[in-house]
Amino acid sequence: MTVQASCRNSLQVWLLLLAVGKLQGRVTAPAYLVAPVEKPFTLTCTVSRERGESLKQVLWLDVQNQTLLTYQPGNRDSVSGQQHVELATSPKDTSAITIRRVGFRDEGCYTCIFELHPSGSKQGQTCLTVTASVTADSNKTAVSGKKASLSCSYNLPEKVQHIVWKHISPQGDHTEVASFAKRSDPMIEPPYQGRVWLTASLSDSKLTIQPVAIEDEGCYTCLYETHPDGQKSGTVCLSTFVLPKPQVSYKTTSQGVIEANCTSVSRPPAEIVWNVERDNRTMGPPATTLVPQADGTTLVISTLTVQSGLLKDVSVKCLVHHKGLESPIAVSMNTKIGKALTILISVTTVAALLVMSLCFCLWKCFLRKEDESRD
Ligand SMILES: *[C@@H]1O[C@H](CO)[C@@H](O)[C@H](O)[C@H]1NC(C)=O
Ligand SMILES: *[C@@H]1O[C@H](CO)[C@@H](O)[C@H](O)[C@H]1NC(C)=O
Ligand SMILES: *[C@@H]1O[C@H](CO)[C@@H](O)[C@H](O)[C@H]1NC(C)=O
Ligand SMILES: *[C@@H]1O[C@H](CO)[C@@H](O)[C@H](O)[C@H]1NC(C)=O
Repeated sequence: MTVQASCRNSLQVWLLLLAVGKLQGRVTAPAYLVAPVEKPFTLTCTVSRERGESLKQVLWLDVQNQTLLTYQPGNRDSVSGQQHVELATSPKDTSAITIRRVGFRDEGCYTCIFELHPSGSKQGQTCLTVTASVTADSNKTAVSGKKASLSCSYNLPEKVQHIVWKHISPQGDHTEVASFAKRSDPMIEPPYQGRVWLTASLSDSKLTIQPVAIEDEGCYTCLYETHPDGQKSGTVCLSTFVLPKPQVSYKTTSQGVIEANCTSVSRPPAEIVWNVERDNRTMGPPATTLVPQADGTTLVISTLTVQSGLLKDVSVKCLVHHKGLESPIAVSMNTKIGKALTILISVTTVAALLVMSLCFCLWKCFLRKEDESRD
């Protein structure tokens, strides 16, 4: 019984194989292929010829069953077909065609037909899925209070159903920021309304934040929901800067000694150095104190002790370096400027007094003349 059954089974399998062989088993081609969009892609089919058979012609049909390319092997001049494909070089009994630049419309099943003499035509099929991946901006920095734009792109908008942007805070909290779905308007989540915008595009998606706050720091994920390929995503991270506005203050601590503080509040912490022109009469290196602030910025105080005599001769500057600045900010201990300002004020005051007394004189003379003429 069992022997008979298994015999019958194997006979069935054998018959099936024979049938497939007769129909199209003689042509082999990959059943399923994935092609990246906007790149060239080559499709191949191979026929197994039997002794005495010759290959007369090869025909390729596109996804709409239209002629894509046809040629007679060994005859370059016989190639004819659509513009966006070309015949690729291939081994004997194999046919290869290259789609010059794969697009969304190239997705589907292709048929290759080999005309054999004298046995007739044999055909095979190969199916193509077009894919793309998300490209995101490289990491960005933005100055607090200014604008930040984050972009992602996916070159198969035809497959995109909707796009969601999520924020992942440095602490790891995920929050949805904005989304855009096919045939609708961009949606901004309530906490972000009024300072976040999203482009109405299914391919190039740009999230704009203005003004940027320190809490906006972290990574942003753009999630493309595609059909039928599922979710595709990209990530771009944002750092927020608060630029320093340094100040210098100083006081005389003891006879002939001045203590100067250069202070700066910024994010990330600034680096403070002192520039003492040509001279070296500082009392040791500056001392630096870092005080983290509740809002995420850091207060940096650099304290320098100098001999007061020094300030009369040379300029002493505090230089504040920060990643968000093209060049450091210099703050002078303004002794020289102070002197210049004093001179300027004195000169102006003297000039003003002179003008006033001149006016007074003129007025006096005039009055006297008038009085005289009246007499
Ligand atoms: C192309 O032809 C095959 C059968 O040869 C058929 O299954 C398929 O649906 C056709 N495709 C189109 C787009 O007409
Ligand atoms: C972007 O920033 C994140 C976190 O700050 C980091 O993990 C990632 O490596 C950065 N990527 C690039 C390309 O610099
Ligand atoms: C400089 O800063 C320190 C704190 O780091 C403070 O004690 C000192 O009074 C400050 N000096 C001046 C001149 O502002
Ligand atoms: C400043 O003086 C110190 C010693 O007091 C010396 O080691 C240093 O080289 C001097 N620097 C300059 C720039 O003159």
